[in-house]
Parts: sequence; C-alpha cells; structure tokens
Amino acid sequence: MIEFPKEFVWGAATSSYQIEGAAWEDGRGECIWDRFARTPGKVLDGLNGDVACDHYHRWPQDVALMKELGLQAYRFSIAWPRIFPTGSESKPLEAGLAFYDRLTDGLLEAGITPWVTLYHWDLPQGLEDAGGWPNRDTVDAFLRLTEVVSKRLGDRVKHWITHNEPWCAGRLGYETGLHAPGRTSVPDALAACHHLLLSHGQAVPIIRANSPGAEVGITLNLVPAVPASPSEVDRKAHQRFDAWFNRWFMDPLVGKGYPADLLEEYVRDGHVSGMEPDFVKDGDYAAMAVECDFLGINYYSRGIIRAEVPEEENAPRTVPEPPDDVKTDIGWEVYPDGLYDLLVRLRDDFDGLPIYITENGAAYHTAPSDDGVVHDGKRLAYLDSHLRACHRAMADGAPLAGYFAWSLMDNFEWQEGYTQRFGMVWIDYETQERLPKDSARWYSKVIARNGVED
Ligand code: FCB
Repeated sequence: MIEFPKEFVWGAATSSYQIEGAAWEDGRGECIWDRFARTPGKVLDGLNGDVACDHYHRWPQDVALMKELGLQAYRFSIAWPRIFPTGSESKPLEAGLAFYDRLTDGLLEAGITPWVTLYHWDLPQGLEDAGGWPNRDTVDAFLRLTEVVSKRLGDRVKHWITHNEPWCAGRLGYETGLHAPGRTSVPDALAACHHLLLSHGQAVPIIRANSPGAEVGITLNLVPAVPASPSEVDRKAHQRFDAWFNRWFMDPLVGKGYPADLLEEYVRDGHVSGMEPDFVKDGDYAAMAVECDFLGINYYSRGIIRAEVPEEENAPRTVPEPPDDVKTDIGWEVYPDGLYDLLVRLRDDFDGLPIYITENGAAYHTAPSDDGVVHDGKRLAYLDSHLRACHRAMADGAPLAGYFAWSLMDNFEWQEGYTQRFGMVWIDYETQERLPKDSARWYSKVIARNGVED
C-alpha cells in the first residue's frame, strides 16, 4: 500500500457553468459563456450549458452519490450571475444565495466538506459589456460578490478559492479568444490578468473577516514544460513559455511582480506602456502577494516547447503528437512525472506553502458496456499514476495536503461542448441518469484505504 498521511484530503471537483444548468426561472442572469456558446463556431456542435447535468435541480441526488462514494470534500463554484444577474445590482438575488445555502447544508449533513471557488469563469455578461476583466471596475464587482457570498456561507464554508485558473480566464478569454468572451488583444489580456490577480489579493481579507478560521487560496493551472531540444532557440522558447504560462501568475503571488523578461518583450512590442504598466496602481503588487493558506494546482499534462511553434499554438495543450496510448481523448499527453516535477518546483518557489491538487483527471469517451457498467480502466490508470506521482513528491518534501479529482461527473467541457467526458460518474444527457464508472468505485476504495495499492 502506498499510504497517504492521515489528514490528507480526498475530494472531487466541478464548476457551476459546467454542471448546474441555467435554471433561468430562478433569475440567473446571462454570463459570458451563455453568450459565447450562442456565438456560431465557438463551441463544438453549437451546444451550451443551459441544461448540462441539471445539477441545480438534482443536487440532492448528487450529494447522496458523493456520500455513497465516501468523498471527504467537494469543490464547487458559485455562478456569479445567480447572485448578481448583471453584476451591478445593488442587492444580491436571494434565490441564488439560497441555492448555495441548501447545497452547503446538504454537503455538511452528508459529512462532506464544502470547498467554494468564487470565480470559475462565468462572469455576468453585463460586466463584460462594461469592459470585462480588462476594466478595473470588475475588481470592485468581484469584491462585492466576495463580500456577499462569504458573509452568507462563511459560518459553514471554511475553504475558499478566489479564482480558478486566471491563465484561462485572462489569456484564453482575452488573448487567444478560445474561451469566453473571445477577445484577441494582448493589452486587454494583460489588464485582465492583472485585475484577476488583484481581485484575488483584495478578496482574501474580506473572506477572512467573514469566515473566521477559514483557509483561503487561489488555484493556478501550471504546466511544467521542457525545451524540445537543447538548442538555444528551443531553450529560449521554453523560457518564454514558462514566463507566459507559469511565472506571469506565480511571481506576483510571491511578491516578485511580473517576470521582467516577458514584460520587456511586451514593452518592446508596444503592448504595455512601460516596465510599470498603466494598469498597475500603487499598492497593487503588495495586494496581489497577500498571504494565503494554500496554493491550489490544476494539473493535466506537460508542455514540450519548440521554437517554431507559432505563439498562439505554443500553449500547454500543444505537445508533439505522442503515441496514441499515452494520449487522452482530448489529445493531452499522459505524463504523471510532470506532476512530480511541478510539486517539487512549487515546494521551493512557494517556500513550503501547503498545496492542494484542486483538479486532475482525464477525458475518455468510454461508454457503458453491455453489462451496463462503464469500464473506464484508462481513467483509473491515469488517476492511479498521478496519485503515485503525488506520493513521490511528498516523500521528497512537497507540502501536498489533498487531492481533488476532476471531475465528479461528465459535464460541459467549454469549447469542446459535451464531446469530452472527464467524469468519474457517467451522465446520460438524454435521461440525466447518473452512473458511477469503475474509476468512481476505485476512487472510493482509495479514499477508504487512504492510499493506492502497491
Ligand atoms: C480546467 C478547468 C476545468 C475543466 C478542466 C478539464 O482547465 O478548470 O473547468 O474544464 O480543465
């Protein structure tokens, strides 16, 4: 048995837009993903999150399932436009708060610890219309959301994540345009990233005030990468990738500001006004480096960086075609050693700050077999190999305190629509039937034993 420490946290994660369904009847406003998904060509098959897993109505069943599986913790996110439909109302919407109240109480009754993410990408469209994340006013709107939600749930929720993957929200949303709202402007993306990180920093003290004793952090998606060859050009491309993807988000959190190498390039190319960009105001760097209780990490794959890859493709999800048997269905390489490397790097870069893996998982289409069961051996093997990598990193001093599988159930996978299934629970989108896959049964045993078998 490869055993984990007694207090290690075992959980699973989801996010609001991906599972809830809109449930417009309760007054939820439009978010940027509603708008984006309705824009032709943005999401595969033109599908959207209107129904998704209908979790908004079926949450009692979902919580019962989590209990049956023995989950200790459940990470979910708040749909901002359920609370402030356009983002700028003076009062929050009671129906939205009541929903998260019920869910929180249901989880606690089931003995499951709620972990709340405040922002998992569903910005109210009203705020996007007013400039979105590149507009500094969005920081204030986020702080109003933080105040209201942490006040309402703060007596019972003691684990808070301000943002999920600001790289995706900022860079995919405003630089590459692959995600909502689909803008393609480097200056907009840089301002958006800044406001995301700033709003994290300013939200932390609000959460602490409203939720005494809470643990608060942020979740980054980081990609350990290697140069494709020892050549100078590949080495440089790798360095740039690391600054663009990882350091742009890590460095400000530890008080180092933005990485100078990439910032110089942005100045040269006229994307920012100077080494002190206009969007950085007095006190911002200090606010962004606020002390946290943990760092959340989402890990899926690594990057292999070649100089000749055009910049927009030089993204984490781009690796040289690995052989089929080491790729998941979404095309990402299965590379557990990358998780080991990342955890060991963070041990040093974040100076021993506790780390939680807040997402890790694999997309495989595996459908129910004739026996009515989903035999998703590949997902199980993926999770198993990554847990072993976690354990090795811990043996080498990585301060890993818990693990959340992505995802509890199949769901709306952003621009991939419903084509990619990451769940440990199968969703039949016609009937909304939930069916735990082999991986869910296996994970349940891992939790019960507190480890993986030798
Ligand atoms: C992460 C997202 C999550 C899910 C997984 C597969 O980037 O945080 O919502 O889409 O990827």
